[in-house]
Amino acid sequence: MYAELINKGELIAREAGNLLLQGFRSPEMKISYKSRTNLVTNMDRFSEKLILRRIEEVFPDHSIIAEEGSEKEVRGDLVWYVDPLDATNNYAHGIAYFCVSLGLVSRKEKKVMAGIVFDPWHNELFSAYRGGGAFLNGNAIHVSATADIGISIIATGIPYEKDDPGRNNIRQLTGVAPRVQDIRRMGSAALDLCSVACGRFDGYWEPELQPWDMAAGSLIVEEAGGEVSGYNGESFDVCIPRIIATNGLIHNHLVYLIES
Ligand code: 2AM
Ligand code: CA
Repeated sequence: MYAELINKGELIAREAGNLLLQGFRSPEMKISYKSRTNLVTNMDRFSEKLILRRIEEVFPDHSIIAEEGSEKEVRGDLVWYVDPLDATNNYAHGIAYFCVSLGLVSRKEKKVMAGIVFDPWHNELFSAYRGGGAFLNGNAIHVSATADIGISIIATGIPYEKDDPGRNNIRQLTGVAPRVQDIRRMGSAALDLCSVACGRFDGYWEPELQPWDMAAGSLIVEEAGGEVSGYNGESFDVCIPRIIATNGLIHNHLVYLIES
């Protein structure tokens, strides 16, 4: 069931990603501000509208929860968490690192069942369904084999709530940065997770995320052989806004550095 569903979902993600590409670095793209540090563009909204329309056509029994406020409740088990443009900040500044993220969650099982992340600039489509492995443009992917955190590339993000020390991730960054090969702060939670899945990064953590940022990417990491958890190493829950994702081999060490 999920293999066929992924094929249909991929078409939706590609269509929305290509729409984003049309607005990228173009005068058609218009910025507005949710807060001083949290932007939204007209392209976020166009992409969301398109995705909603397509999901309603292709999966009429499924519910939808999307970042820019669209919802469709149909009381079934399956709900799509939609990020129509992940890394709006990059997109608005013309930085070519952004994506569309579609994660399908089973309410009964409280688990992500399928995930699709499409980076239109690099034409990279990451996908997975539970039990089916993880893929990049149709080729199987796997997490890295680095067992030593000291030679690991670890990605993170700094939340929009930058002036709140309890939420801004600076303390954790101070603990991790001196103990790893290097830190990356790319700006897209969904793509950072996919980079862990295909072995470009060895680990990633970030607080203050929403289900649509993490759902698809978290499953793609798991299906690529990695490990995903909360900040204390507890089971990952897509509705709890903190995530640690690694190749599995450095997981406990990264949990320790983030906790301490
Ligand atoms: P967005 O671009 O879709 O808003 C940046 O660190 C990453 O975190 C992006 O994936 C961004 O998604 C996401 N993000 C979502 N909510 C956030 C928040 N409250 N603070 C910081 N980043 C957030
Ligand atoms: Ca977004």
